[in-house]
Amino acid sequence: MGYVKWYGHAAFEVKIDDKIVFIDPWIKNPKSPIQNIENLPKADLIVVTHDHGDHLGEAVDIAKKSGCPIVATYELANTLQQKGVNGIGANIGGPIKAAGLIIILTPATHSSTTGVPTGVVIKGKETTIYHAGDTGIFATMELLGKMYDIEIAILPIGGHFTMGPYEAAWATKIINPKVVIPMHYQTFPVISGSPEEFEKFLKELNVPTKLVVLKPGEKYEF
Ligand code: NI
Ligand code: MN
Repeated sequence: MGYVKWYGHAAFEVKIDDKIVFIDPWIKNPKSPIQNIENLPKADLIVVTHDHGDHLGEAVDIAKKSGCPIVATYELANTLQQKGVNGIGANIGGPIKAAGLIIILTPATHSSTTGVPTGVVIKGKETTIYHAGDTGIFATMELLGKMYDIEIAILPIGGHFTMGPYEAAWATKIINPKVVIPMHYQTFPVISGSPEEFEKFLKELNVPTKLVVLKPGEKYEF
């Protein structure tokens, strides 16, 4: 049994194949129930989708505390290496094996200071999870859904910097996962998209995917 646990914003703790993976661990975000990384379980792996502060978060400190590597784009991994952690440099579309899982960085239509922005597909024996990172919608999402048989999609719905509820509903339609979990909304007033609007658009577009809305600190078990 595994789970997807939300810490607010884009920060997730995933347990898959008995491995603990943190994605975009900005644990000290204003909505997070945990403000001290000492209260987190030991990580086996961290994935950072891009170097914006709301995604890089406390990744370096968590990696040092847990003694685990951080997967990121090649350029970002190099800068993390200089901060004394094991950065595994990958790039978009290239599957790597880390912590016994298959990790694939995916495209993201966004920006970043170092390297390029990404999302990530995490493929284990138990399930396949897609965390889209910060992104607008792009047609290749449909292919990712088919190629990797994505079961759980974690999508930004806040708008302004990323997809809003309407775009995220279309993204869900083309990815066609079993479950969709919204993220990256209402952390700040400017990213105002709501799960209620998202649900309304999913219904309007006849999307069969199950919507799972988590509160910060809650987990979805699979
Ligand atoms: Ni960003
Ligand atoms: Mn962001």
